[in-house]
Amino acid sequence: MFKPDQAARWALLFAGLAIGESRISASGDHSVLIAALRALGATARQDRDGTWVIAGRGIGALTEPDAVIAVGADRWLLAALAGLLGSHPIFAVLTGDAECPDGLPQLLQSIGALVQHPASGGMPLAIAGACDALPIDQSGIDGDLAIAALVAGLNARGVTSLAFAGVELPAEIALGIATLRGFGAEVTDDVDDGQRVIRLRGQPELRGCMIGGLVIAVDGPAAAGKGTLARRLAAEFGLPYLDTGLLYRAVARLVFDAGGDPADADAAAEAARRLRPEDTARGDLRGPPVDGAASQVGAYPAVRAALVDFQRQFAGGQGGVLDGRDIGTVIFPDAPIKFFVTASADARSRRRWLELQARGVAADFDQIAAEMRSRDANDAARAAAPMQAAADAVVLDTTDLDADAAFRMAADMVRRHIAGL
Ligand code: DC
Repeated sequence: MFKPDQAARWALLFAGLAIGESRISASGDHSVLIAALRALGATARQDRDGTWVIAGRGIGALTEPDAVIAVGADRWLLAALAGLLGSHPIFAVLTGDAECPDGLPQLLQSIGALVQHPASGGMPLAIAGACDALPIDQSGIDGDLAIAALVAGLNARGVTSLAFAGVELPAEIALGIATLRGFGAEVTDDVDDGQRVIRLRGQPELRGCMIGGLVIAVDGPAAAGKGTLARRLAAEFGLPYLDTGLLYRAVARLVFDAGGDPADADAAAEAARRLRPEDTARGDLRGPPVDGAASQVGAYPAVRAALVDFQRQFAGGQGGVLDGRDIGTVIFPDAPIKFFVTASADARSRRRWLELQARGVAADFDQIAAEMRSRDANDAARAAAPMQAAADAVVLDTTDLDADAAFRMAADMVRRHIAGL
């Protein structure tokens, strides 16, 4: 699983190798990576809104650093820089507390680099990179070695071929490849003999690009599977996730707490204005009577207006995945990726009923189905931001599609978007 700042580091790294300026909006502290990129000849500055503006010199054109490069405790950075230095004809020393992955020196030697490290096998790592790096062709590669091999392949003469056990790519590598394609590199990805094989053509001309701030809108009716999909997309692409239904649920709960009635529009608007983020973390926001009351308060324009800024700010800088009813139509009408997840009313009622059964809550199927119908009708028929698919949303009907298949389809679309396909 990625944290947002982990996802951004691939983009920062490739930006430092690309010709021309890249703009990367990245959360988290990337100072160690940025210092390393500067030491290798890239320029990097941060805009007032936090966006990194980076310009590299191109693959093959790194400058030799005039001091050791510190990687701190970051194994990803150690692996990525080792792959980069091993494939460029320069001399550099990596220091830090990060543990040197088993087999990393041997991997670098196999592409033609000279490597020196203490007898204990740890750090520092002195690398005299290959003059003409050989491409790696390895099966069963994984973990940090795959990161080093992928990065080394950028300046290798020929095609680097990495085969991973199983048909799923490790998430870290999938993200690295998706990001790399966004910079214009040619990477193929096939399944051969039950192994996932990626092939990278060496010495591509990486061109600067804009990355970050990706907003994914996931709308749809209750129990269609949008929460599951949104959560998995967020984890896969290292984006923050917001279940916007919780905002409306929390407003309904605040109205009840104050002894009010969700039919009272003023009381609901007042609750929406004093909503704090921590109210959405309460444990009593699911199930009746909050389900119906959330739908009821969601119909008031003043309630919706009070919640708009919070939702936009949530994903404004670094992007995010938001699920709800009006994300693609009202909150982020310009989101580049929109899904409308739906399923037949019967399938959704059945899922909700099974969910309650699994939690040990006795529930009557007919009553659940009736409540579902009434909530759908209310959410879809209201005048203010009714639930509807945006014109440019991809509709995923999960009546006969399981959660894994829906996720694979959606994640593929996001990867294609990142890759600029
Ligand atoms: O997604 P959910 O079932 O937790 O949402 C509960 C209710 O909140 C839903 O019936 C309508 C309302 N809602 C909304 O009006 N707009 C959103 N973006 C999200 C939820």
